[in-house]
Amino acid sequence: MPTLPKLEHYREIVDRELERCFSPTLPAPRLAEAMRYSLKAGGKRIRPALAFAACEAAGGIPEDALPVACALEMIHTYSLIHDDLPAMDDDDLRRGRPTNHKVYGEAIAILAGDGLLTEAFTVLSSPEWKIPVERRIEIVRIVSDGAGANGMVAGQVLDLEHEGKPTEERTLEQIHKHKTGKLLTAAVLAGGKAGGAEGKVFEALRTYGEKIGLAFQIADDILDLTATTEELGKDSKSDLKKGKATYPAILGMEESKKRAKILLDEAVHAVGRFGPRGETLVSLARFIVERRA
Ligand code: IPE
Ligand code: IPE
Ligand code: MG
Ligand code: MG
Ligand code: MG
Repeated sequence: MPTLPKLEHYREIVDRELERCFSPTLPAPRLAEAMRYSLKAGGKRIRPALAFAACEAAGGIPEDALPVACALEMIHTYSLIHDDLPAMDDDDLRRGRPTNHKVYGEAIAILAGDGLLTEAFTVLSSPEWKIPVERRIEIVRIVSDGAGANGMVAGQVLDLEHEGKPTEERTLEQIHKHKTGKLLTAAVLAGGKAGGAEGKVFEALRTYGEKIGLAFQIADDILDLTATTEELGKDSKSDLKKGKATYPAILGMEESKKRAKILLDEAVHAVGRFGPRGETLVSLARFIVERRA
């Protein structure tokens, strides 16, 4: 798998900081425990990696994007906790462990998600982050837009509405671009912005983010059918059982793989302008499409 050493390096940086963000002194210890349970269960840390790599491509150093990386991982983790709830995908296994609501109950799982989402904005507004205030506001806007009713949350609603129903390809693309693509794009854009990306550089990052965002969910759909529960750390064939609208279900396996590959090529093309500084983004795009979990 390409550049895993770099992914490991990024993981160490973000995990150290996440540890620091969650001191055990919160007023409700059970809530703190539930938040940490899901956050620290592992996970690929792809969104932090994208934020760091985009920051580097734009000319910054990874540490410039550290609050972005932490915030994105907190928001992503919240989305997983809620995604697994009985009212949504009703899954029992996540990141190799019982899902949050299986351990802490539904009420705490909902609130742990709420806590993680909100704390993400505490991190982004921290006075310790030395970044011009206008840039910080743009970053908050990028992240909230990607996560909210115009982004991931909208996609989750569309996903649920199309469960068990015949779905047209263009609708499926909209579902995937929102439920997964928007937050991944936000990771790239907010990381790039932390590194000073503007104008054409910012737009190249947007194109890259949108392409890998959709490719990521196509790969996730493919893996639901082709990887084992052990490899995934979540139950395989879960989409199949629920009749989810997925790329393999609607276009077939071969066509789905082809689509992911085209998106990969387009993403790589979009960051060609960065030369060697964009190499990690290229490797991450390959990892997203070729991963086994
Ligand atoms: C899973 O995301 C949810 C989707 C958007 C498909 P990841 O595959 O990034 O999950 P972790 O963070 O590695 O657990
Ligand atoms: C999840 O999509 C997108 C989120 C916003 C969490 P899935 O429902 O396909 O993610 P998994 O397969 O459960 O990780
Ligand atoms: Mg889901
Ligand atoms: Mg799910
Ligand atoms: Mg899935």
